[in-house]
Amino acid sequence: MGVAVPRRYISIEDLATARGVDPAKYTLGLGAREMAVAEPGEDTVALAALAAKRALDATGHRELGMLVVGTETGVDHSKPVASYVHGLLGLPTTMRVFDTQHACYGGTAGVMAAMEWIASGAAAGRAALVVCSDIARYGMRTAGEPTQGAGAVAMVIAQDPAMLELDVGISGAASTHVHDFWRPLGQREAQVDGHYSMQCYTEALATAYRGWKTRAIARELVRGDGLASEQLAQICYHVPFCKMARKAHVQVRQCDASDAGIADTDAAVAASFTQQVEPSLSACSRVGNIYTGSLYLALLGALDIGGRALAGKRVGMFSYGSGCTSEFFSGVVGARAADMVERAQLAGVLADRERITIDEYERIMTLVTPMGQPGPFLFTGVAEHRREYARG
Ligand code: CAA
Repeated sequence: MGVAVPRRYISIEDLATARGVDPAKYTLGLGAREMAVAEPGEDTVALAALAAKRALDATGHRELGMLVVGTETGVDHSKPVASYVHGLLGLPTTMRVFDTQHACYGGTAGVMAAMEWIASGAAAGRAALVVCSDIARYGMRTAGEPTQGAGAVAMVIAQDPAMLELDVGISGAASTHVHDFWRPLGQREAQVDGHYSMQCYTEALATAYRGWKTRAIARELVRGDGLASEQLAQICYHVPFCKMARKAHVQVRQCDASDAGIADTDAAVAASFTQQVEPSLSACSRVGNIYTGSLYLALLGALDIGGRALAGKRVGMFSYGSGCTSEFFSGVVGARAADMVERAQLAGVLADRERITIDEYERIMTLVTPMGQPGPFLFTGVAEHRREYARG
């Protein structure tokens, strides 16, 4: 895996103070600490290219047959972000290159396509590069403002996984046509029905989780007695804001308790959240929502904190894309996971950022042209209707 985040961030407490809100609402109520701020030069392509380069460098270059970018912050109605990334990284011509979109689920669509392409044998030993890249914007002084963010997570998916071996063919899906969150063509900021979106998320989770559980029990990956979710060493949820993962976990426990006819207690739910979910939220709380990449940032965070102790253990993952579609799936942490996580240098990537003031954040939010600063990959502007990028 490789991660890229914008070079600037704000403290969520600074934002609360500037908005006249009790900081505890953002820190305790939403679970946020810091929020990434992307300037126009750090667009979806630039973040995706950097994360992809880091993933390839970390895993060692191998023969690629597929590049997929999952994003809901596309830069063109026709030319995919993946095409720009393909060009910027100088990847081989002999491969499939495309984007996948369904809100925050888009990256998981890419992961599933890659996994099933490999499992089918069609990949014939080649690997896939899947990148999740997004910039989450709700606008200044909106309820969604403290849940913005930006960043990219890239993954090399191959037949001989080092970090996580995905369980093939047992995921549970749930989809419904709803207007909980969307972004009409031409608008930079998302439309969102915030409280309804949380309800859509938890309802989809219940269906997807039960679909996964039924198949996982049938395949004897988990036992059918008791609380099935407790047999997962970690559960990583899509993290639009950290408190949502807590709500999600409560939902999973309620499904389990109701299915097994067992009375759960608040204390048991809280203890399981601390053990099974909280480690995944550390990095997310410092970046904010990165839409398609949020689940995978949570996964990387969990593996980073869990270290070697997680090797050989099964983790659950829930991907939610508003609109909505979702999937609960699982995988077993690989013996080399801790080494691979170290190569992703998550702590270093987060430490290598500059904290800016709310005045500076507000200035950047209004910019439409790049600030023109050097960086590894940067959007520099549009000439003759073509987006141009520089490599630092
Ligand atoms: N101290 C401590 N906690 C406080 C507090 C205080 N002074 N004041 C409020 N709180 C708590 C509230 O009790 C609440 O917690 P609970 O939900 O556990 O009760 C929490 O802080 C938030 O308070 P509100 O619900 O009043 O907040 P809000 O209405 O202003 O906005 C939001 C919250 C709806 C999530 C908004 O930020 C939003 O619209 N965000 C974008 C939408 C989103 O992220 N939806 C998630 C599901 S959809 C999805 O997952 C896809 C995606 O990525 C977008």
